[in-house]
Formats: sequence, C-alpha cells, structure tokens
Amino acid sequence: MENTLLIVKPDAFKRKLVGNIINRLERAGFDVVDIKLVQLTQDLARKFYAVHADKPFIDELIEFMCSSPVIPIKLGKTNAVADLRTLIGATNPNEAACGTLRQEIALDVQQNSVHASDSPENAAIELAFFFG
Ligand code: RTP
Ligand code: MG
Repeated sequence: MENTLLIVKPDAFKRKLVGNIINRLERAGFDVVDIKLVQLTQDLARKFYAVHADKPFIDELIEFMCSSPVIPIKLGKTNAVADLRTLIGATNPNEAACGTLRQEIALDVQQNSVHASDSPENAAIELAFFFG
C-alpha cells in the first residue's frame, strides 16, 4: 500500500464535482485515508507551489488556488502515485487521454480540476503539508 495526495481544485469545487471525483477514485480502487476542506491563503499556496515560483503562470495559479476552498485527500492503493497520475491524465485537458479525469471534467490547462503528487518523494512532502 502506497499513499499519495490528490487536491480537488477550485474549478471543480465551484462546479460541485467533489462527489463525482471521489466516486471515480473509489471505483479505481483508491481508499480515502484522510480528507479535509482548506481555504488556502496566498502564503500557503505559494509555499505549496514553491517549485513553480519562477514560472510565468505562478501569480495566476496562486489566485486560482485561493479562489475557493480546496479538498486535499490522502489516498491509499498499491502503486498509488503512478496510478493516480494515469487516472487524472495530462496537465492540459486537450492533451489528456480519453477517459481520464482531466479529459472529462477539466476546463483548461490551469483550471484542470485536480492536483496529484508526481513522485513518492513529493507525495510524502505534500501529505505532510496538509496532514502532518
Ligand atoms: P498538478 O501539479 O496540479 O498535479 O499538475 P501537473 O503536475 O500536471 O502540472 P504542473 O506542471 O505541476 O503545474 C502545476 C499547475 O499549474 C497550472 N498550470 N498553468 N497557464 C499554464 O500554462 C499552466 N501550466 C500549468 C495548472 O493548474 C497545473 O496543474
Ligand atoms: Mg505538478
């Protein structure tokens, strides 16, 4: 059993897709291990996305992530990190494979409905950020 972090982002929260997303995760074999609702502050969002601090889209991304509550979810499954990245699809929904979560519900490259940890190392860091 491996753990990873998924965050339901503001575009999905505002469209009332929280239940839809959790249902997809459970159908794909993920266990919900922990869950909370968080209103990120600008400071917290910048800390979480520190790796993207130099990207041209960082200010827009921080505004977006603070525009409503988000739902961090600690998930458990064998091979959870890689399997979750496969389930959500590419960052840009126009490039996401058919049947992936982002292809079906994301709005655009920024408002892409969910975040998922991209390695076991980052999963541990990101889970500690929200559930440590
Ligand atoms: P995430 O971290 O949210 O799971 O997404 P990801 O790995 O697929 O994408 P990443 O490269 O880590 O980018 C983080 C988030 O920044 C926003 N973004 N906007 N405007 C743009 O060109 C752009 N590129 C990325 C997205 O919300 C992306 O998920
Ligand atoms: Mg990422």
